[in-house]
Amino acid sequence: MHTHSLSADGQVLTLTAPDGATSRFHAIWLRDNAWDATTRAPGNGQRLIALRDIPADLSIAKADMGDALDLEFSTGERIGYDPAWLMRHSYDTAAKPAPGHLGAGQTTWDAALMDALPTADFKAVHSHSTTLRDWLAAVRRFGFAKLTGGPPEPEALLQVAALFGYIRETNYGRYFEVRTEVNPTNLAYTGLGLQAHTDNPYRDPVPTLQILYCLENSATGGENMVVDGFKAAQKLRDEDPHAFKLLSSHCASFEYAGEAGVRLTARRPMIELAADGALQAIRFNNRSAAAITDVPFDDMAGYYAAYRRFGDIIDDPAMEVTFKLQPGESFIVDNTRVLHARKGYSGAGHRWLQGCYADKDGLLSTLAALEHGAAAQ
Ligand code: FE2
Repeated sequence: MHTHSLSADGQVLTLTAPDGATSRFHAIWLRDNAWDATTRAPGNGQRLIALRDIPADLSIAKADMGDALDLEFSTGERIGYDPAWLMRHSYDTAAKPAPGHLGAGQTTWDAALMDALPTADFKAVHSHSTTLRDWLAAVRRFGFAKLTGGPPEPEALLQVAALFGYIRETNYGRYFEVRTEVNPTNLAYTGLGLQAHTDNPYRDPVPTLQILYCLENSATGGENMVVDGFKAAQKLRDEDPHAFKLLSSHCASFEYAGEAGVRLTARRPMIELAADGALQAIRFNNRSAAAITDVPFDDMAGYYAAYRRFGDIIDDPAMEVTFKLQPGESFIVDNTRVLHARKGYSGAGHRWLQGCYADKDGLLSTLAALEHGAAAQ
């Protein structure tokens, strides 16, 4: 049984759970977060009121605990609350963690992940919702996962995106071919090795997911490699907090103008933090870095030192997970977190991948719905 107490002015309700956990709630917050049928539409759960409908000086006149917590507000409204829901949505927490912390459900990794690559079978994720759920959860946790055993057929990557959401079309098309070209419009289409990078930092918003699907890979070399950008950012923060601050508090600039009619530019930090300091996005791409002009003169030398050190951490083989895709195999990366690269490859044999972008909100939505469905069973 939950217990409660009310402050003398009726502005703050304190709730204590059966396990002894205690949390305070403001009257205004409680009224705004009511779940009764006059506040939330019963069908879709959308809020029916706006903040302007709640008096700024609202207080709680009376509170009674039965099966539900029944509150009577100074407006005369009486509303019942589920105390367990309130405790799950507590905001009365201790000090916030230091900048550079991870979001819920995320785990950082390095080269050791190679021993246990997050992988699922193409047919299994299409036919078993629990396999799909676990594979999507691996993408949420690691920002990266592989699929094996798919058809070595053009456009099969579209079936991967359809597992959880929608393609994000760009000037490169719905999807793009990654193989050697004689006159490449992008260095990705040559046999050169590429430094680990996130894709398209010159877009705003940046594509949040990338899928790369292998159709042929008989060339020598050409392995794929991924690096956890959040791990790299935390390493930089731990060894040099000032360097971390420089890269997270100043915007870098990125641009792409490699084809007629396209001039994409974006101005965002290389290490982007949420308002509470959580790691939000990594942008790192030497090919599309533009002139950086948003760092004050007195900080520019330090900024370049921080940029160099961040690159050294990213290039450290101890951070790399490397694998060679076979035809019909693919991988997905969270392009706001995980950098990818490929080793150089020779002209002998063929290497042909198809790539596309998709959006992470769709993936997380599908995952949450699968998890919610499982919880409801
Ligand atoms: Fe790329």
